[in-house]
Amino acid sequence: MIVTMANAKGGVAKTTGAILLAMAWARRFEREAVVLDADPQSSASLWRDMAEDAGSGLGLVDVRPANLSTLRRAGRLGADGLVVVDAPPQGRLLEEAMKVADFVIVPTSDSPLDLQQAWATMAAIPSGARAAVLVSRAEVNTRAYADTIAGLDRAGTPRFDTVVRKRQEIKKMMGSLPDSSYEYAQALDELLEVA
Ligand SMILES: Nc1ncnc2c1ncn2[C@@H]1O[C@H](COP(=O)(O)OP(=O)(O)OP(=O)(O)O)[C@@H](O)[C@H]1O
Ligand SMILES: [Mg+2]
Repeated sequence: MIVTMANAKGGVAKTTGAILLAMAWARRFEREAVVLDADPQSSASLWRDMAEDAGSGLGLVDVRPANLSTLRRAGRLGADGLVVVDAPPQGRLLEEAMKVADFVIVPTSDSPLDLQQAWATMAAIPSGARAAVLVSRAEVNTRAYADTIAGLDRAGTPRFDTVVRKRQEIKKMMGSLPDSSYEYAQALDELLEVA
């Protein structure tokens, strides 16, 4: 299965989500999961490199750089396992990453202001591909969070029931081997149910 993390808006937890979703799958099935780093910012690759320098590595998660050719061939990798693509905010790599995906996850913050870009990203997903919004880094007791959920539901936007809460442990996780996959394990359950 190929899952692409995409949003035209930056800083919405695409990279964090890609690593933790792959980690959740790898730990669940005790098999290697691949993250394809298609973002020129290369944050996922940096995460892996830092974890290797620290001596832990990323366990069963393999982060590989991706270009148009790699993405077009991702089907072979994803045929029998999980490939999560960390997509860039725009351009041909984003288009290709959405085209090859079995499922597109559109992470969004808990701010209603960010919904326009989540919707624009959803609208750009090729017809036929399944997709849903994942509200991430959420502070669930806030008005902004309630308005975000209400906005998505009013618009009938497909979304994960799972909400990823804002956590200091996740914020500090970059460059290390995560102890837990947090709510991404529940997001994986939802994904496996529909896929
Ligand atoms: N659940 C969370 N709780 C707290 N902080 C989080 C959470 N998820 C992500 N973050 C933090 O939010 C910031 C943005 O996350 P991340 O880099 O994964 O987003 P991105 O969409 O990949 O950004 P970019 O557009 O720069 O690629 C990072 O500092 C990350 O550590
Ligand atoms: Mg990123």
